[in-house]
Amino acid sequence: MSDPVSRRQFAKLAGLSAAGVASPLEALEVKPVSPPRSGNGFPAGFLWGTATSSYQVEGAVNEDGRGASIWDKFVRIPGKIEDGTNGDRANEHYQRYKEDVALIKELGCKAYRFSVAWPRVFPDGDGKPNLKGLDFYNRLIDELLKNGIEPWLTLYHWDLPQSLQDRFGGWRSTETCKIFGDYAAYVAKHLTDRVKNVFTLNESGRFVYFGYGIGIDAPGLTLPQAEVNQIRHNSALAHGLAVQAVRAHGRRGTRVGPAENIDACAPAIDTPENVRAAGIALREMNAGYLNVIMTGKYTDAFLKFAGPNAPKYTDAELKIISSPVDFLGLNIYAPQHYVVASDQGAGFMPLPIPKSFPHMNSDWLRVGPETIYWVPKLAAKIWKTDAIYISENGTSSDDVITADGKIYDTDRIMYLRNYLAQLQRATTEGVPVRGYFLWSLMDNFEWVYGLNKRFGLYHVNFDTQVRTPKLSASFYRNVIANNAAGV
Ligand code: NOJ
Repeated sequence: MSDPVSRRQFAKLAGLSAAGVASPLEALEVKPVSPPRSGNGFPAGFLWGTATSSYQVEGAVNEDGRGASIWDKFVRIPGKIEDGTNGDRANEHYQRYKEDVALIKELGCKAYRFSVAWPRVFPDGDGKPNLKGLDFYNRLIDELLKNGIEPWLTLYHWDLPQSLQDRFGGWRSTETCKIFGDYAAYVAKHLTDRVKNVFTLNESGRFVYFGYGIGIDAPGLTLPQAEVNQIRHNSALAHGLAVQAVRAHGRRGTRVGPAENIDACAPAIDTPENVRAAGIALREMNAGYLNVIMTGKYTDAFLKFAGPNAPKYTDAELKIISSPVDFLGLNIYAPQHYVVASDQGAGFMPLPIPKSFPHMNSDWLRVGPETIYWVPKLAAKIWKTDAIYISENGTSSDDVITADGKIYDTDRIMYLRNYLAQLQRATTEGVPVRGYFLWSLMDNFEWVYGLNKRFGLYHVNFDTQVRTPKLSASFYRNVIANNAAGV
């Protein structure tokens, strides 16, 4: 962590005379926003948003009849959460949601992505709904709409009811998939009079492997590969059942799609051969979830590679899994594979990534802004979609409150500026990205890292619950107001 810098020191560093400029931040702050720049920005109507999830911000785990989730149990296993914290209180968003909606409005966002905590609505996963739990989402949605912000709802952001884990082994059983379909139907029936866009599961790519393969997310299991593959298949089935439930029980015209941390592939060097290879890589690296959702098939290369560990499935399941979606939600943070063409195997070769590759404050968060250009471009082509939303993008940072009470997160601004410039490059070329949700509105409970990794545009003091805008909040407000990346 860097040392706090006093206002005077800062002014000196910035080459400003302390006498001439009252506060460096005031001089830099963009309120009112800078005038629109010449040149291309994002398309008119591009949807600017921000995102959070239930367990990461709500707190209130014992309020109003909420049941336990697998995360309530997991965080209590000693050593599982790096800083020993948990989501019991988190951001107290359950109580402070009005204040938080005002923060979203302050940014100028037109959309907010949040998730419904399944055990708030069905404390046991199935059975009798808990009206008080549902009511929280009614209040939140009404408050958003009152402030001109569209609610984008995620059905599952990892807080599985513990009861389903105990009774069926969670996602190990298709029983959980069916019950998820029923829960999706209930939420659709009660909330899509006002919610027009629904994400099904958030990041199957993470919660299946981390939760059931290597045990670092809830429920903390380390199962053999064959079972992990079967669970991934079950998660795709749950997605498909939710799509069908929203169609059958939601208001007509409700749109639905996944929110997946797509395994991000980009050409190492931009030649036609490598670009083609990166497209193949994107399909094959995502064969276990996104590709089967979008095409209704497991690829030959995937089945060959999985061999005896391949999931067991029926044609009827593949049909459900590939129920047509209205959009593709992609969480894009870091490049996973830089690819070159190859005459071996499926036609691509992922290159090893050197240790010295730069990353942000989270080790896994490599800086590869071109990823947010290539991945939507290749995805739109291979899966023939005309609506992609970046359902998450953002970074953690060593956010320090300086002596003047401000947070100068210039590294986050650097990251966002570069990623947004590449996203703008994509939309300028006609890649059908329709919106962007910045992760995250405010610092929150970052799973295995606890409260230690701060992803917010607003800093949160978890003792006092005071929210303070970081410099990046001003940056994002400016981007939104200009509808341009700010390069
Ligand atoms: C992906 C997850 O959906 C979200 O819950 C998490 O906080 C961010 N990435 C940052 O790691």
